[in-house]
Amino acid sequence: MEILNLRGIGKSKYKVTALFMGIVMLLCGCRPFSGLTVSDVNTEDGTETMSNDSLISVGFSQLGSESTWRSANTESVKAALSTGNGFFLIFDNARQKQEKQFKAVRGFISQRVDYIVICPVIQDGWDVVLSEAKDAGIPVILLDRYISVADESLYTTFIGEDMYAEGASAGKWLESYLEEEGIAGEDINIVVLEGTSGSSAQAGRTKGFGAIAARHMNWNMLASANGEFTQAKGKETMARLLHEFDDIDIIVCQNDDMAFGALEALNEAGIKTGGKGEKVLISFDGTKQALELVEQGVINVDIECNPNSGDLLSKVISDLEDGNPIEKTYYMDEKVFTKENVSEYIEDRNY
Ligand code: AHR
Repeated sequence: MEILNLRGIGKSKYKVTALFMGIVMLLCGCRPFSGLTVSDVNTEDGTETMSNDSLISVGFSQLGSESTWRSANTESVKAALSTGNGFFLIFDNARQKQEKQFKAVRGFISQRVDYIVICPVIQDGWDVVLSEAKDAGIPVILLDRYISVADESLYTTFIGEDMYAEGASAGKWLESYLEEEGIAGEDINIVVLEGTSGSSAQAGRTKGFGAIAARHMNWNMLASANGEFTQAKGKETMARLLHEFDDIDIIVCQNDDMAFGALEALNEAGIKTGGKGEKVLISFDGTKQALELVEQGVINVDIECNPNSGDLLSKVISDLEDGNPIEKTYYMDEKVFTKENVSEYIEDRNY
């Protein structure tokens, strides 16, 4: 965890002077935490003279760094919650372990941060640790992925993506595609490379796509397998599925990294995607590399999952600071990219 140990400071909003920060960093041998660089606070004589601004302290438990999307999400939060914007960010990477997220949250509580932001790796199991945050009077903001708790007052707000809608968009695109190709009545065989089991991204996309698939008796779900949202696991899983089934028509990858891995396995097997008579490849996220593959006709459709939630997060925290009303749920804007519309979005893609 990139932290400054602020235990024992008895107020909720730290008056952070650079002198204080410099001394603590020197004593602890700490690296400056993510939102703050030494150059932000240094002066000629080595005395730290950052102004006495009040900074809003935020503990951020990021679930990992498994994908291109995840890195973009982390960068978005770090950029938005910078010291220049009035924040004091304490960042922790849980490396896909919920236990590590619990530990990070408890660390944030003991440091008495102003806000806790969590990208939860899986949906279940949050009740106890969030009760501890609630008892400490620290608002919890869920980012990106949703959780399943009996008591919704355990978190203040959710800012993220509508995973169910994303899955349903993939299903609806496939419906139209099969119609356009004149093969809507034919039997089709589908395999799905799913993301992290038990995550809201995996569960939502699976349910959303499943709801559309359930309308079609001729959509045969051959297999769903866990590709863990990573390129390596996507490749391994796709290779295994190709070995098991020789009649796959549609490949649904629940993120772009798994799609890149799947494409490696498909290329090695000499199998093509995207074109007429070739396998259909559906992906999620909308990374620049994937959009280029949509443009080239290798990926048929890419359902956007928008990682740039940092600015909205910063605005919601500012609203909470000012006592303005906030929503319980904020969904990010998301698009569906096909060969027909993708070109105009590629240049500006930042991830
Ligand atoms: O929760 C968002 C998902 O997690 C993205 O689709 C994926 O790339 C990431 O790992």
